[in-house]
Amino acid sequence: MLYSEKVMDHFQNPRNLGKMEDADGIGEVGNAKCGDIMKMYIKVEDDIISDVKFNTFGCGSAIATSSMATEMIKGKPVEEALKLSNAAVVEALDGLPAHKVHCSVLAEEAVRAAVKDYYDKNGIQYDEKLFAEKECPSCHE
Ligand code: FES
Repeated sequence: MLYSEKVMDHFQNPRNLGKMEDADGIGEVGNAKCGDIMKMYIKVEDDIISDVKFNTFGCGSAIATSSMATEMIKGKPVEEALKLSNAAVVEALDGLPAHKVHCSVLAEEAVRAAVKDYYDKNGIQYDEKLFAEKECPSCHE
């Protein structure tokens, strides 16, 4: 089968889908390759991501990876969320077809954009390098 059971499950029953009215950080990113967009909301309490929601106008793989990404960062320290890589999300989903890996980059970027927004809004200092553009292996072939 093209998609793993986990991908199908997260696509059909996305976790943490929706909007958050009182978010502490919001990240909105777009995928230049396909035009899909993703919005990620985080709530932070004592440096821990206490809640997370996402909204996407994107493909099934983008939905599945964002859903999995929200589960992987919920309850974790903000700094740890920054380390979440698209490869780790893809692995947690038992893989994606090669031509869909670029969709998972959207989830990673949205998480990072939300954290950056949280840092900016709260005057928290950070190393700009943390948010440097990352090359997507399949988008920049
Ligand atoms: Fe656009 Fe998947 S095709 S994110």
